[in-house]
Amino acid sequence: MEGSPYAKAHARRNPLHSGRSALAHRRASAYIGAMHAFTPIITNDKAALHADLRAAAAALVAGEPDAIANMANVAALIWQYLPDLNWAGFYRLIGEELVLGPFQGKPACIRIALGAGVCGTAAATRTTQIVADVNAFPGHIACDAGSASEIVVPLVHEGRLLGVLDLDSPRIGRFDAADARGLEALAAAIMPALAGSI
Ligand code: SME
Repeated sequence: MEGSPYAKAHARRNPLHSGRSALAHRRASAYIGAMHAFTPIITNDKAALHADLRAAAAALVAGEPDAIANMANVAALIWQYLPDLNWAGFYRLIGEELVLGPFQGKPACIRIALGAGVCGTAAATRTTQIVADVNAFPGHIACDAGSASEIVVPLVHEGRLLGVLDLDSPRIGRFDAADARGLEALAAAIMPALAGSI
């Protein structure tokens, strides 16, 4: 596992978490010891990685009712845990528009109409959108020219659309059904914290 391309990509993105020396390990522990010491597992098993991410996210948002703070921390966790991403974050439904929320990555489009682009389609249909090649998706909104594929999960809490969770990758075909299941389960696990209702 540790020598696999998936693990290597993960290690490049998370140098504190893999292949580190004992000294680097102690430094990392000292750095995050007073904060939140979440360390992603190194695995090729997407379901296991998503389960690990979900558990970390649930722990991180537990007891915190501020939706923006929770979205910010979950976006940071996704960025830390999942390899091959160039953007990860939230759009919130405000009125009839999706408005940019907490994210990791380059600055992005601020407002997206329902039904527009991948995000607006996920929101309007309330179904997860997996786009293997964004250039083949009619109406795709290009915020970052580096994005090649995308997945968008609608956030629906007690019948109310809160917004969407959007992940972009520089790699074509980065997202599959296992990612959809994992991110939908993540969304379900943290939804009350995103709705500010915990
Ligand atoms: N590509 C998205 C827009 C949001 S950015 O990717 C962050 C879309 O087509 O809706």
